[in-house]
Amino acid sequence: MFKLKVDDEIEIRMLKESDTETVFALVDRNREHLRRWLIWVDASDSPDITRQYIRDSKRRYENKEALSAGIWLNDELVGATGVVQYEWHNRIMEIGYWLSADQQGKGVMTKVVKALIDDAFSNLKMNRIEIHCATGNTRSRAIPERLGFKPDGVMREAGLINGQFVDKVIYSMLASEWKTS
Ligand SMILES: CC(C)(COP(=O)(O)OP(=O)(O)OC[C@H]1O[C@@H](n2cnc3c(N)ncnc32)[C@H](O)[C@@H]1OP(=O)(O)O)[C@@H](O)C(=O)NCCC(=O)NCCS
Repeated sequence: MFKLKVDDEIEIRMLKESDTETVFALVDRNREHLRRWLIWVDASDSPDITRQYIRDSKRRYENKEALSAGIWLNDELVGATGVVQYEWHNRIMEIGYWLSADQQGKGVMTKVVKALIDDAFSNLKMNRIEIHCATGNTRSRAIPERLGFKPDGVMREAGLINGQFVDKVIYSMLASEWKTS
């Protein structure tokens, strides 16, 4: 099972079926906050859907396709992160994330993403890490920018969110550019 200690307060752990109710409750409490930028939120309308998602995620992790992990701050679930997809043959992976609205503004996600990147470059031997953000998602874009990612360009109308096509910026970090501290 994937588990990563970020610091004394924060830990990332792969989601398990026993997390279903906790994950669903957090999504349900944050529905309006999350649905602005994440396409799966409206469809995630019952614990059964969350359970199925966690089961699918386990299978995808075992197949080395993706990773879905919860973020625990002092043992409380505050959000999720993971790898949207691993492209092993090119040693590329894409990171995704979301945080409970009331836990924003403390640097939690920046620390989590930094820890995932450290792990990916040193243990998984990845060469390139991507983060895709809707151009209007300022808070999300601030994370790769704060960590020194470079914007490779904009994919036009690369997402359909709440009936609107949105452009997305691709940010990238290369192993040769990453400085572990
Ligand atoms: C995107 C999202 C995770 C960003 O959350 P966030 O709280 O802004 O990001 P962080 O946890 O890294 O916190 C950064 C903030 O904490 C502050 N901060 C405090 N201590 C910090 C530290 N040690 N390190 C970094 N930032 C710190 C930063 O200044 C920043 O505050 P600011 O926005 O007032 O400038 C959150 O807004 C979210 O879940 N949005 C909805 C879902 C979503 O859009 N997901 C991404 C789809 S691509």
